[in-house]
Amino acid sequence: MTERSVAVKLASAQAERYLEDLIEIASIPSISTLPEHATDVRRAAGWVCHRLSAIGFERVESLPTEKHPVAYGEWLHASGQPMVLIYGHYDVQPADPLDQWRSNPFEPSVQGDYLYGRGVSDMKSQLLAFLEALELTRQTGELAVNIKVLVEGEEEIGSPSLQSFCVNERDRLSCDLVLNTDGGMLAKDLPALVYGLRGLAYFELQLSGPDHDLHSGMFGGTVHNPGQVLCELMAGMHDSAGRVTLPGFYDQVRALTPEERADIALAPYSDEEWRRMTGVPELFGEEGFTTLERVGARPTLEVNGLWSGYTGEGPKTVLPASAMAKVSMRLVPEQDPDTVERQLRSYLEQNAPQTVRWDLKRLAGSPPVSMRRNSLAMQSAAKALQETFGRKPVFTLEGGSIPAVSILQSVLGVDTALVGFSLPDDNIHSPNERFYIPNLSRGVEAYIRFLNHISTLGEA
Ligand code: BES
Ligand code: MN
Repeated sequence: MTERSVAVKLASAQAERYLEDLIEIASIPSISTLPEHATDVRRAAGWVCHRLSAIGFERVESLPTEKHPVAYGEWLHASGQPMVLIYGHYDVQPADPLDQWRSNPFEPSVQGDYLYGRGVSDMKSQLLAFLEALELTRQTGELAVNIKVLVEGEEEIGSPSLQSFCVNERDRLSCDLVLNTDGGMLAKDLPALVYGLRGLAYFELQLSGPDHDLHSGMFGGTVHNPGQVLCELMAGMHDSAGRVTLPGFYDQVRALTPEERADIALAPYSDEEWRRMTGVPELFGEEGFTTLERVGARPTLEVNGLWSGYTGEGPKTVLPASAMAKVSMRLVPEQDPDTVERQLRSYLEQNAPQTVRWDLKRLAGSPPVSMRRNSLAMQSAAKALQETFGRKPVFTLEGGSIPAVSILQSVLGVDTALVGFSLPDDNIHSPNERFYIPNLSRGVEAYIRFLNHISTLGEA
């Protein structure tokens, strides 16, 4: 196929500059959950706004929310053409545990074909790629659709401000479809189109027993240890078949049809590779389901953090006053975070002993979401990915969550295509996060092609 787009031709020639730009934005520790990084978060929003202005976008603004600002800009000079809202996030997860990084998480470093650093794969590479795509299509006069760009700074904490932001800014954000750039691929040369994401319900559970830490010899055996109680409660949340025991947890879960199961089984996948990628001696999960079904189509409950008592060096004989856990559930259609919260509360009411007090705080909640596979957005994305990688993308269900997808779907009533280039072994949210550098310029190409297809397929 001969390439007609000048912008696409230019994209592959500029790979080095993209890498420099990616290193620049990835050097800003825009960790949304940590208050001490609030200035860095604002700096990252400013960086995005600056780039949008530089490529000729208008009404560029860092719009305040209750927590972190939304970077916004628009270019509305393709009259009669579709309006595309491009979504991304500039925030990142904490870099912990720091001692497990082989390089500084916020001094991105190139090793072979990879760039290492927090946020390089999730999702500053994609942020960079779509900004470059906009710049090239503008420069070459190829931008033939209207664009609104919304880059938020709260995705990694569950997008708490986004719902009310979108409701308040409904007119500003009105569009025909959304390109969400926070997705991934299945392998280096195998593009994916995610058509379903799990939801999330995230909690912090605190147990308190005695009103201060006690000598475990003087008081042990007479006072119930909150650490012990926490372990029992957590352990009781699964049965021996790997199923979650919260009362009613599976009531809203839609069963997989034979067609859906056959579809999921089409994705190229091996348990052996999954073991290698995770480093576990053996895989584990809910009985009766394959690994890909467990990831994409079944709900789960995970401990995300657990602490109690003395964890410093050497022995300290203490009976701790309290114990804490961070615990979250991934949700599938038709579950919702409010119902799951009630189920967790009733589990605790039924199972927590009278010897401790408990307090449950919800930290984040987002429903599961499905995307139409035959929308203009999805079809344009499929074409763009196929042309860029030389292979048809595989339709997949993703186990992660992106609150913006359901928020934009429900508030604006439009379809989303989720197109990103992060790889399963990029260590996102983990130490030594990395991004496969050759996919940076491919990402730019794919986004350019996507926008071209929206304008041409949109006319048909
Ligand atoms: N980009 C990820 C979600 C994702 C992961 C999409 C892998 C495709 C492939 C996103 O940034 C993310 O990590 N989301 C959080 C959301 C949560 C804090 C509400 C998640 O899934 O834990
Ligand atoms: Mn993430």
